Amino acid sequence: MFAKIRSATLHGIDALIVNVEIDLAKGLPGWQIVGLPETMIKESKERVAAAIRNSGYELASRKTTINLAPADIKKHGTAFDLPIAVGLLSATGMYAPEKTKGWLIAGELSLNGGLAPVPGIISFALAAREARLHGIIVPMANMREALIVNGISVIGVNNLTEIVAFLKDDVTPNQALSATAHILQAHSVDFSDVKGQQMAKRAMEIAAAGNHHVVLHGPPGTGKTMLAERLPTILPPLDYEEALEATRIYSLFGLINREEPLITVRPFRAPHHSASYAGLVGGGCGIPKPGEISLAHNGVLFMDELPEFRKDVIESLRQPLESARVHICRSGSSLTYPARFMFVGAMNPCKCGYFGHPTKPCICGIGEIQRYRRKLSGPLLDRIDLQVSVPPVTTAHLQSSEVGEASQVIRSRVLAARKRQSERYKNKRIKYNSQLGVRELKEFCRLDSAGVAFLGKLIDKMNLSARAYDRIIRVSRTIADIEGKEQITTEHLLEAAQYRGLDREIY
Ligand SMILES: Nc1ncnc2c1ncn2[C@@H]1O[C@H](COP(=O)(O)OP(=O)(O)O)[C@@H](O)[C@H]1O
Ligand SMILES: [Mg+2]
Repeated sequence: MFAKIRSATLHGIDALIVNVEIDLAKGLPGWQIVGLPETMIKESKERVAAAIRNSGYELASRKTTINLAPADIKKHGTAFDLPIAVGLLSATGMYAPEKTKGWLIAGELSLNGGLAPVPGIISFALAAREARLHGIIVPMANMREALIVNGISVIGVNNLTEIVAFLKDDVTPNQALSATAHILQAHSVDFSDVKGQQMAKRAMEIAAAGNHHVVLHGPPGTGKTMLAERLPTILPPLDYEEALEATRIYSLFGLINREEPLITVRPFRAPHHSASYAGLVGGGCGIPKPGEISLAHNGVLFMDELPEFRKDVIESLRQPLESARVHICRSGSSLTYPARFMFVGAMNPCKCGYFGHPTKPCICGIGEIQRYRRKLSGPLLDRIDLQVSVPPVTTAHLQSSEVGEASQVIRSRVLAARKRQSERYKNKRIKYNSQLGVRELKEFCRLDSAGVAFLGKLIDKMNLSARAYDRIIRVSRTIADIEGKEQITTEHLLEAAQYRGLDREIY
């Protein structure tokens, strides 16, 4: 007697389909699980046997072989409990084999036959949809998560008895309501809280509009952290695909609310400067965990006090800033996680914080200042389009009752600029100005003769690198888009050239 049930296992962010094959043969009663199972799967044997007995069914006293195919992929996790149990009961003839056909089944059993949620259900549902299966049967606690994926049936079950009733007698348990993907954005902070700092606010608007990475630098207490924390309030809301991608990553490690699983607010991750390499990039023992940079996917990664981070941690940003993904290598295998985030860094100009301050003296030596700033390498800074000076605000400014522009007003300009970009790049693989490479810069950022002359002078005067030159053009493209202009003018270039303070001061 034979049964085949479909399930899946996680490999990085993807789920790979696994066939759970069960064969009951004559011979000494006993169980064997083959197909590279890890310890966790061996333990599943005990849980499955107890769950079947405690649900009032009988285990066949036969020689039982369970094969998890294909054998060459490494499997882990407890999600195979349910497909194994369902397969065992199917092999004994409890229900017709066609009943399980077309379903991907996953879930962890407890000894009494109840079901516990498993991580990565969104990836499982996506794999089922890709394999053109009819649907997915999951523990009740995972049902809402699975429902986020459109175009696939979802059945949530509380225990083994419910799934048997479904397969044997067509009793449908808790039929899935369709997913309600409300994308809400609620923020407790607002740009109107920030007084003065017109130029820095303008830079944040440009960053949001063109999806440019930013570094804010200036003495302590000038509002750098405040500005960074308010960035999400002017970014466009997540669209469904972005929300799904983000939720999928959080789902892998159970970092979601099971009642309201869809992540609807743009991720904003702010790791502490004591963060380890694995904490930021991902890794660790067992299944490699995604790091902060993947949890910031489709959102913002904010690194406050940037030079206080470890050098290797800072340098690890280079790959994701370039390719929007991160590779984690572990014992011979390599996993790739998505990491497309907007980077925001904040830093003081030196260790004491007062280098270049108009009134307070800096107590750092020149060597110290250089060491502090060299934490950010040239190649890393090359990837950060906006380097913004945040000067001290006067007491008068701080005490004034002025109310700055509200986030909502700024966001409407950001949205209009984004729309221009998505129309311009609709036949391209890029979405925003920050992604403009050398070729696209030529195609979409033609300068008029005054602009060419202006930049020529700037290069001579400031000794600009080719990369810095490209950054100025990218940023000016966004400034022109905010103004609703197709032609980049000298004015746009002039403004863009101001946001590169760091390389001017350091190198
Ligand atoms: N431009 C500003 N407008 C209003 N409040 C400010 C401003 N700058 C600083 N503050 C006040 O000072 C505190 C510290 O600001 P913060 O953003 O942490 O400065 P930084 O990160 O530059 O050291 C804030 O919580 C806020 O109360
Ligand atoms: Mg701060």
